[in-house]
Amino acid sequence: MSTILLEMTGKRRSHGAHGSGRQGRRAPRQAPEAAAAVRRRGGSRHEGHVPVLAAELTRLLDIQPGGTVVDCTFGGGGHARMVAERLGPGGTLIAIDRDPLAERRFLALAEEISCGVRFIRGGYAESLQLLADERLQADAIYFDLGMSSMQVDTRERGFSYSYEAPLDMRMDPSQPLSAREVVAEWDQRRLGGALRELGEERHAAAIAREIVRRRETEPIETTLQLVDAINSAIPAPARFAGGHPAKRVFQALRIAVNDELGQLERGLPLAWRLLRTGGVLAAISFHSLEDRRVKRFLADRARGCVCPPQLPVCVCGHEPEGSLITRRAVVPGAEEVARNPRAASARLRAARKLAEISEVSSVMGRAA
Ligand SMILES: C[S@@+](CC[C@H](N)C(=O)[O-])C[C@H]1O[C@@H](n2cnc3c(N)ncnc32)[C@H](O)[C@@H]1O
Repeated sequence: MSTILLEMTGKRRSHGAHGSGRQGRRAPRQAPEAAAAVRRRGGSRHEGHVPVLAAELTRLLDIQPGGTVVDCTFGGGGHARMVAERLGPGGTLIAIDRDPLAERRFLALAEEISCGVRFIRGGYAESLQLLADERLQADAIYFDLGMSSMQVDTRERGFSYSYEAPLDMRMDPSQPLSAREVVAEWDQRRLGGALRELGEERHAAAIAREIVRRRETEPIETTLQLVDAINSAIPAPARFAGGHPAKRVFQALRIAVNDELGQLERGLPLAWRLLRTGGVLAAISFHSLEDRRVKRFLADRARGCVCPPQLPVCVCGHEPEGSLITRRAVVPGAEEVARNPRAASARLRAARKLAEISEVSSVMGRAA
């Protein structure tokens, strides 16, 4: 039997007979009976995951056969499959996700692709740190942020305001904090702040007040109980304008529960550090809180002089570390949105890492 390398941040285990823990091993294969079990458990129910901006992402990543690519948000593996096809048998795909459901999908995909594979289950911030500690160098690293269709469509996980389910929203079901604790325990001020900052919810204060008022008599434990509290807190016209009234609150809770912005703030610099010269970092975001962070991070990498504007000449000597491949965010076309309405808010940005100054001068020194 051969091996698929599976890890959790902090732990390492292998699926199969052997496991070395080094990336770049030749495509470890899974026993046929294990693959069949994976398909039975996770395959059929969530068929049809549609990767967003897939052609645009794979084009920008500029994947060459034999390269090393890190997918920080594996999900259903839609993007990863396309990347793996381009990497070919000499390449390596390292996939990260904090959701055990994604790990099951990875096992099924690993059966079908020819490149070397490795899966790390954990937050991408911690997982990228692990790869940095190993001094991994990647040709491309990408993020497809937010939740997967598999997560939204698994009703009992409580990501959706459309179905009755326990308030949960954890991407990693083993983490202690869930939406239930946030709604039950955060004080009114903290709750209101989170709804305003993470959901950009105009009626944050009123909704937080209503949640606290209701939970004094009866705990709010399900998605539809929360939707009811939101509906009664906001003015009637707001219930019928601008999409589902609970959309922003659910977004805020999900971001808070999964520390999504903290992960992004820590993950982007680590991903940049792992890139080889000439490598590409790309991110697809689904709301302005993420997109702003990605845009600012990439723009900062591409910035030259950082002297105050009042200085007549540059004294900082700062050189750009990267060049933007996307001047403006790439957005899906009308056809993609018609096919997959979840793509509507997607924004894709990418930058290429430039040679560091010390590298350039040592090459020039050698040439002279
Ligand atoms: C939008 S889906 C990715 C879909 C994937 N690109 C595809 O084509 O199937 C996002 C995935 O990222 C995972 N995720 C989100 N934030 C994460 C984080 N900080 N660390 C690890 N995984 C994360 C989620 O669990 C989810 O499976």
